[in-house]
Amino acid sequence: MSQITSRYPETYAGWQQDPEAYWAKAAEALQWDRKWDRVFDPALGNFGQWFAGGRLNTSFNALDRHVAAGRADQAALIWDSAMEGRVERFTYRELRDRTAKFAGALRVLGVGYGDRVVIYMPMVPEAAIAMLACARLGAIHSVVFGGFASAEVAKRIEDATPKVIVTASCGLEPGRVIPYLPLLNGAIEISAHKPDACIVLQRRMLQADLVPGRDHDFAIVEAAASPADPVSVLATDPLYILYTSGTTGKPKGIVRDNGGHAVALVNSMPMIYGLNPGDVFWTASDVGWVVGHSYIVYAPLLAGCTSVMYEGKPVGTPDAGAFWRVCAQHGVKVLFTAPTAFRAIRQQDPTAAELAKYDISKLEALYLAGERCDPPTAIWANEILGLPVVDHWWQTETGWPITAGFRGLGLFPAKPGSGGRPAPGYAVEVIDDEGQLLPSGHTGNLVIRMPMPPGAAPTLWHNADGYHTAYMADFAGYYRTGDAGMIDADGDVSVMGRTDDIINVAGHRLSTGAMEEVLASHPAVAECAVIGAYDQLKGQIPVGLVVLKAGITTAHAEVSRELVALVRERIGPVAAFKDARVVLRLPKTRSGKILRATIRRIADGETVVVPPTIDDPAILDEIGAVLRPD
Ligand code: COA
Ligand code: AMP
Repeated sequence: MSQITSRYPETYAGWQQDPEAYWAKAAEALQWDRKWDRVFDPALGNFGQWFAGGRLNTSFNALDRHVAAGRADQAALIWDSAMEGRVERFTYRELRDRTAKFAGALRVLGVGYGDRVVIYMPMVPEAAIAMLACARLGAIHSVVFGGFASAEVAKRIEDATPKVIVTASCGLEPGRVIPYLPLLNGAIEISAHKPDACIVLQRRMLQADLVPGRDHDFAIVEAAASPADPVSVLATDPLYILYTSGTTGKPKGIVRDNGGHAVALVNSMPMIYGLNPGDVFWTASDVGWVVGHSYIVYAPLLAGCTSVMYEGKPVGTPDAGAFWRVCAQHGVKVLFTAPTAFRAIRQQDPTAAELAKYDISKLEALYLAGERCDPPTAIWANEILGLPVVDHWWQTETGWPITAGFRGLGLFPAKPGSGGRPAPGYAVEVIDDEGQLLPSGHTGNLVIRMPMPPGAAPTLWHNADGYHTAYMADFAGYYRTGDAGMIDADGDVSVMGRTDDIINVAGHRLSTGAMEEVLASHPAVAECAVIGAYDQLKGQIPVGLVVLKAGITTAHAEVSRELVALVRERIGPVAAFKDARVVLRLPKTRSGKILRATIRRIADGETVVVPPTIDDPAILDEIGAVLRPD
């Protein structure tokens, strides 16, 4: 990293010396209804809580505050749909008014403080409006990504027990319209919990059949409602629950609070991204993921920026110039996406011929996250754009970057493969499996010294013990990130991959455990393992190995087809599960544990050291013959 006039060292040291003073100062950027009793109360929750006793409203701070401060006519949200070929702009006043009206509509349907609302929507502005409307009422939203199938949606409905579900008639994927109501109806049927009502946004491409007595038309209820005022909530009250993959089939309900979240995000915008009020920020992700929650909706609005919300892909909608078209058309200053999007663009347009067609002179930096960025992609992006390419590392749990380059502090990255330095708020260390600190340059478990900063999840929904077990039990005094990596002599952190059974497919976090549960439910399958194999475009793709029950005579190709269809039906297309192979046996330790890491190394063509605990080394050759027949 280049160190020219960087204010990073003093800022980080300032936080280290007095974390409470650092965060109290950051909190001044917001409007509070009541000041906190303590900046940090270590006696509360799993590891303490931030801004206990303070009161505010996140929606007010994201919208009304800016309207009052003279930004009423500035664009808050620009919706650009490559799928519909349409752009819609919302000023801060318009977004505030629509949010207030939709909050009124939710209130009519009985939604109030503390109630849950599931939002299962594609990338339409009404998804952001629904989120902000829940925040306005002090209700807790839980957004579910559109690529999940009914059974996954059902798990989330059952855990969050929403009063109301907000959805749309359809999502749009290249070449196909995806009707949402059949998926949602299927989910509600499976779920033991039933919502009182659903609100359906009718899109022009598909009019959904509404269930009488249960479903309401989004436009009609919004038009009929009177605007709702923001409800003052405790800083420690939940703003949202976002389900993410754990190591089992049961997703984890990550809870985000109101106060710490708003403070951390508003602080991150100038410091990390170098963005100020009025600047245009585009995060090319989906509101169904944490990146979309934080950097399409909440952070840009809390900071008074203009956020671009894009419905489309980096390629094919219509071509590999789509990102440059959006940057040029809306004057984007900072673009944030996953490396896989750039790999897709590079694959189709290696010489970046499309880029020459657009004036993207307003663009100042590219931020990447969601998966490890391979150095060739970072270097290519830097070469074609001639701009800083900032890889930064974070997770659904943290809600904002753990490590980054800091444009606002004059610290730019110059090391492809590294995720940058720890953000003030995070003390990142590397330890071995016994909890011993490792020296710089050594790879081990990446951990964060407790307490976690504002914005990081304080707990799991109705499962404080689960939070403790997942993140705090393994290494006393630390938060376990589940990532492996190292810190070099300069203090730059490199994240190499997960230490558990989570994989990252096209920037989407998926559980191999969840896929194994589906494979194991097939009547022909005796046992199975799913691993994340290297993929040039998506980073990783899931590959399933199954052992069939004795006496099964079905052709292997037929079983594979059924397994692929089953994962798509139960988890959804987002799993990108397209490869199931039949093997005679799986490599295991003598105690019966499947050696998944060894299988992955074989799939990736790495040199495999035969594990000393393996029960029969000959199996490795058999697996190699199936995974790499050439
Ligand atoms: N609703 C319904 N289906 C969806 C969906 C949604 N919201 N999102 C994805 N899918 C489907 C896709 O259509 C695809 O279906 P298919 O198997 O029939 O082709 C499947 O889920 C897998 O999607 P994906 O892994 O995204 O692959 P893709 O081939 O459609 O696109 C990329 C590949 C790289 C272009 C795409 O993943 C991308 O743009 N990624 C950007 C990264 C990103 O947004 N990351 C989020 C975290 S920052
Ligand atoms: P998610 O919770 O979906 O945001 O996924 C979080 C996981 O994605 C992390 O635990 C990492 O494994 C991976 N990840 C996110 N950002 C990066 C990055 N910049 N470099 C390497 N891995 C990353």
